[in-house]
Amino acid sequence: MSTIPICQYDAEVLANREIGPGLYWIDLLAPEITRHALPGHFVHLIASDVSEDSSRQTWLRHTPLLRRPFSIAERDPERGVFGLIYRIVGGGTEILATRRRGERVDVLGPLGRTFEPVHAGRPVIMVAGGVGVAPFLSLAQETVRNGRARPAEMTVLFGAATAGLLSGEEKFRALGVDVRLATDDGTTGHHGLVTDLLDRELASSPRRCAYLYACGPTPMMRRCQEIAREAGIDGQVSLEGIMPCGVGVCMACVVACTAPGAAPDAAPGAAPDAAPDAAPDARLSTPRYERVCDAGPVFDMQEVVM
Ligand SMILES: Cc1cc2nc3c(=O)[nH]c(=O)nc-3n(C[C@H](O)[C@H](O)[C@H](O)COP(=O)(O)OP(=O)(O)OC[C@H]3O[C@@H](n4cnc5c(N)ncnc54)[C@H](O)[C@@H]3O)c2cc1C
Ligand code: FES
Repeated sequence: MSTIPICQYDAEVLANREIGPGLYWIDLLAPEITRHALPGHFVHLIASDVSEDSSRQTWLRHTPLLRRPFSIAERDPERGVFGLIYRIVGGGTEILATRRRGERVDVLGPLGRTFEPVHAGRPVIMVAGGVGVAPFLSLAQETVRNGRARPAEMTVLFGAATAGLLSGEEKFRALGVDVRLATDDGTTGHHGLVTDLLDRELASSPRRCAYLYACGPTPMMRRCQEIAREAGIDGQVSLEGIMPCGVGVCMACVVACTAPGAAPDAAPGAAPDAAPDAAPDARLSTPRYERVCDAGPVFDMQEVVM
């Protein structure tokens, strides 16, 4: 578990605007959380307005009851402000989109395990699918801010269903980071999967990737895992999942992980059934489950069974 203090903060909404179809950016004033946040951290927030003086009806104030997790996409430590990018998928995000400037949002954070930093001499590729771009905005921004590596040592491959959902792309360009785009409908960039771009990039310029990061839909991350394994590249994935408590208590967010050194495509516990006569392999026969909110959301790329 992280040693960074977890703060609960009544953050003021400074802006909450639509930046694409059903896609929003929210800026929250929360100096303590902003100060400690690192790339890969997430916050757990109450989407609804629970304040005493809320003009909203009582039932709406406490709906949904549980907090919702979002990756920190950007932070401005001098102003004490961090930004989140979110897509409306259900009740919580729909209500969050109605929160107005000046209102307060109850935020818990920063939470979770962070990314391995980018460092000079180890060029990286970040593969982002949809709102999975959020933690990479933060990673690229902090890398440039701290001078850990040159922007040219980072490549972002960013895919989404359609061009309007690729918001955030301009922030990478402003940092001087190379961004390649892919859309399912061909409205911009490569017409197809973002992982096609990864295949292509590794084939044409293998030296541009000594370390791989991925965040997005599970099939995308699974394909990144396969590509990285075949190419012998280390990396990390950031998982999204259902998170009722966010602090390691409820066990609702567990994922299966391979024991160190085990084959990632063999589910824990699968080995004895698959090969009854073979000598038992302790690494595979001992299931290991990790809580995404606590041991993750960032995991070693080959560690998670997806
Ligand atoms: C560590 C972490 C970081 C995240 N970062 C972001 C982010 O930066 N931006 C962003 O838009 N979203 C992010 N998410 C996902 C976000 O938390 C969910 O989209 C949100 O909780 C949905 O709340 P809701 O009430 O609107 O939807 P709900 O009503 O709870 O769910 C609507 C539908 O979406 C499905 N769903 C809900 N949560 C998830 C999920 N996490 N993954 C897949 N399906 C889900 C439900 O099964 C249901 O079908 C993150 C999740 C995690 C765990
Ligand atoms: S969300 Fe409760 S243990 Fe992870």
